[in-house]
Amino acid sequence: MAKKDIDWGSLGFGYIKTDYRYVSNYKDGAWDEGEMTTDGNVVLSECAGVIQYAQTVFEGLKAYETEDGRLVTFRPDLNAERIEQSAKRLEIPVFPKDRFIDAVKKVVKANEDYVPPYGSGATLYLRPVLFGTNPVIGVKPANEYQFRIFGTPVGPYFKGGVKPLTIKVSDFDRAAPNGTGNIKAGLNYAMSLHAIVTAHAEGYDENMYLDPKTRTNVEETGGANFLFVTKDGKVVTPKSDSILPSITRRSLVYVAKHYLGLEAEERVIPFEEVKDMAECGLCGTAAVISPVGKIVDHGKEICLPSGMTEMGPITKKLYDTLTGIQMGRIEAPEGWIYEIK
Ligand code: PLP
Ligand code: COI
Repeated sequence: MAKKDIDWGSLGFGYIKTDYRYVSNYKDGAWDEGEMTTDGNVVLSECAGVIQYAQTVFEGLKAYETEDGRLVTFRPDLNAERIEQSAKRLEIPVFPKDRFIDAVKKVVKANEDYVPPYGSGATLYLRPVLFGTNPVIGVKPANEYQFRIFGTPVGPYFKGGVKPLTIKVSDFDRAAPNGTGNIKAGLNYAMSLHAIVTAHAEGYDENMYLDPKTRTNVEETGGANFLFVTKDGKVVTPKSDSILPSITRRSLVYVAKHYLGLEAEERVIPFEEVKDMAECGLCGTAAVISPVGKIVDHGKEICLPSGMTEMGPITKKLYDTLTGIQMGRIEAPEGWIYEIK
């Protein structure tokens, strides 16, 4: 087997069709045994639940080639648990955790030639998705579903790699109080599309959403959680019921405490405090940790002391440690790395 002829180093965050995907269908109250297929298309009724009422939830995780040539994934058990929470909230039947992890492994193994080489800066991004397939016209859950996992090789989520980002404080909300902001449902991302197109058109890289109830606390961006470093070197990340519980953020809090000996805290962060922060980053599977250099609130600029050319020093340590764990350079905590080959 040989790696595909892809210019790995110049990949952006886009879709490249790989050879195999895993598909299982749910009918008459049960998931079928599932299979690997080469068919990357889904043919659906025009009235399918996913098309009419956006009944779909998904996940995102990555497979890595390590320094010593193994293929691994990072904490897929947490993606399995989160898609279970997401599915329950949208009345979608749960796809069992052990089968989820097994399907992740199958998809990586079958597409191993698409796993970018160690050191290329790219990874294989995996997208598990669950959606309602049968016709529904009254507002109710579907009773047939598909679970699918496909992979696509990706480079950095933000163009320019580690160049610090400029963020706009959005006037739009991506989630509602007591809504679905804490699950990974396609509908949350639909909510953010107009806001991100608007922000891009104005020259910003991303939006900062504030909490939808009081609009005073920091929430997250359209595709990542925030992480701040205070001037006395403490790592702080927003706590909220309406943000996605990021696996990267939870891992970074652990890394900060147990690998770097830093204080790290998940707490409500009033927007008012942001001007006093030393460093800021966006964390997520796609974003990894992308540094933020500037946050603009209706024309008022908050320039992080870490500046617009490089990651802040603590952000950099977190980045190096996390990616070191993911790529096998640094020993991982028990249970974080799932070996595929
Ligand atoms: N917040 C949102 C809205 C996201 O889409 C993501 C991406 O998955 C994250 C946060 C980061 O979560 P994770 O670190 O689990 O990828
Ligand atoms: C991820 O990081 O996996 C996400 O789903 C974010 C998405 C905006 C690409």
